[in-house]
Amino acid sequence: MRLPREQQPIPEIDANHPLRAVLGLVRRHRSRVIGAVLVFPLKDSPQWLMPVVTAHVIDIVVVGGPPRDLALWAAVAFVALLQNYPTHVLYTKLFMGAVRQIGADLRNALTERLQSLSIGFHHRTSASLVQTKVVRDVENIELMLQQVTHPILAQTTVVMGALIMTALSVPQFLPVYALTIPIAVVIRSAIARRSRERNEAFRLDVEAFSSRVGEMATLLPITRAHGLEATAQARIAEGAEGVRTSGYRLDLLNGRFQSLSWVVLQMLSVGCLMLGALAAVTGRVEITAGEVVQLSAYFGLITGGVTQVLMVLPIAYKGLESVRSIAEVLTEPDLEENAGKRAVTSVTGDLRFDRVGFRYPDAHGHALTDVTLDIRSGETVAFVGRSGSGKSTMLNLTLGFVRPTSGRLLIDGVDAATLDLRTFRRHVSVVPQESVLFEGSIRDNITYGLAEVPDHLVRQALEDANAAEIVDALPDGWGTFVGERGARLSGGQRQRIAIARALVRDPRILLLDEATSALDSESEALVQDALDRLMHGRTTLVVAHRLSTIRGADRIVVLDAGHIVEIGSHEELMEMNGRYARLQERQRR
Ligand SMILES: Nc1ncnc2c1ncn2[C@@H]1O[C@H](COP(=O)(O)OP(=O)(O)OP(=O)(O)O)[C@@H](O)[C@H]1O
Ligand SMILES: [Mg+2]
Repeated sequence: MRLPREQQPIPEIDANHPLRAVLGLVRRHRSRVIGAVLVFPLKDSPQWLMPVVTAHVIDIVVVGGPPRDLALWAAVAFVALLQNYPTHVLYTKLFMGAVRQIGADLRNALTERLQSLSIGFHHRTSASLVQTKVVRDVENIELMLQQVTHPILAQTTVVMGALIMTALSVPQFLPVYALTIPIAVVIRSAIARRSRERNEAFRLDVEAFSSRVGEMATLLPITRAHGLEATAQARIAEGAEGVRTSGYRLDLLNGRFQSLSWVVLQMLSVGCLMLGALAAVTGRVEITAGEVVQLSAYFGLITGGVTQVLMVLPIAYKGLESVRSIAEVLTEPDLEENAGKRAVTSVTGDLRFDRVGFRYPDAHGHALTDVTLDIRSGETVAFVGRSGSGKSTMLNLTLGFVRPTSGRLLIDGVDAATLDLRTFRRHVSVVPQESVLFEGSIRDNITYGLAEVPDHLVRQALEDANAAEIVDALPDGWGTFVGERGARLSGGQRQRIAIARALVRDPRILLLDEATSALDSESEALVQDALDRLMHGRTTLVVAHRLSTIRGADRIVVLDAGHIVEIGSHEELMEMNGRYARLQERQRR
């Protein structure tokens, strides 16, 4: 079955052909746009009718014609004006309906793409830059459609009307009108290339700037804690200066261009008035005073129309630059490849690293080399080792955020490369060092992404996570809003809410990366107790610096520079008196 045109996925956006891309988007809303174009000449009819009315009124005055005739023209003018209200509203509904829909389509397409791009892409790309594209660039495209189409339609209507009316009354003047076209073309082509360059420079500066602002917001607590306000301000000022210079350069170019087009076309308009007057005075062409006024008015309309169209070019260039900007995301090839792969419906929790090697793109050495490890369902395996030894990389491989550059990872005996990892991750929960909560109630945070969770299950999860006391102490219980990123809770409270979130999902596999290391010892005890309940009966991979917290693990894996150097239980490793024993020794001191 074919979907209605407006529900089909948006056409490809090619950065090299932004105009074609925009037309492709508009075409999806063909019927509304055609409707708008048809209504337009009617709604704008007063524009091109008024000079005729004026000409007739002048001629009636000149010959002292009957007042009844004046009434007739007054009626024509009023009807033409009054119909504008309903037709203009209809036009707005049709056209802006399509434009706003295009904006929404683009935003949805961008988010969909962002959600399927790899985690590597998101590490490279700042959150603010992504936000700028989804919010500002789409807005620029909407503005372009709105502010460019309107004048073009209006001026085309006016120019057509003026041409027809002139052809009917004084056809000898048509060649003079034709002069405006080559002049407009020359002016436009003089500006096109430079305008594109300056728009691109400006857009890149704005993107760099918004990344810096985002960074400043994230670093604010650190900046203030270290008294580095001046440094942060200087970084922002530098970015603001970039935006100022490139913006100003763009404004100057646009200013020169606009004045040039206006002056040239106005001169042409004056010339036309003189020519008409000359023709009447010398009697070379038979022409009345009213017709001279009419001719001059129409020529004014035509040059005005061409000027208007030239004036909107800067907005058009800006909009096209935004099309290129979003094309960068829509055509970014670094996708997490899940499409068409096998969906995971249930997970037992057996993991096998089979001679896995991994190297981050652009990194010098390997983060992991030849790692072979069998993890049985329900087992708890802890990873220890110096900073940079590859512990977090093991967890990222398990999640599929990064994929082995050599060797294989088997999930329940199946090569992870053949699985749709999005479906696998529904059976995994991660508790990182600092859990992120979103702006919303505590209950929403716990049941995030799940359909309907009965109250008693949420309650149970809170109890098991040692988080019931947090909720009970709050005025609105679990309906309390936690503020952006969970700002209204302490670190230990956030961790316990995150554990409740994991418990409700009842995952088969758990990944804990330094889940307690940011906490003081009292808070740590509460969180560790909750974690022990959460780990029960699930495959768990734990990373911890504080070795006391992993003593109970079934096996402990000691990593060094990406290699496994020791594996065994706490007792076995202590017995071996090797690397692990030395780490223990160092922590006890
Ligand atoms: N995104 C990345 N790009 C390039 N190299 C990376 C990236 N992330 C980690 N590395 C490198 O890979 C190696 C392993 O890093 P990993 O984060 O796994 O260490 P870790 O054992 O978790 O360290 P820590 O205890 O400090 O968290 C390190 O040498 C690190 O510099
Ligand atoms: Mg780490």
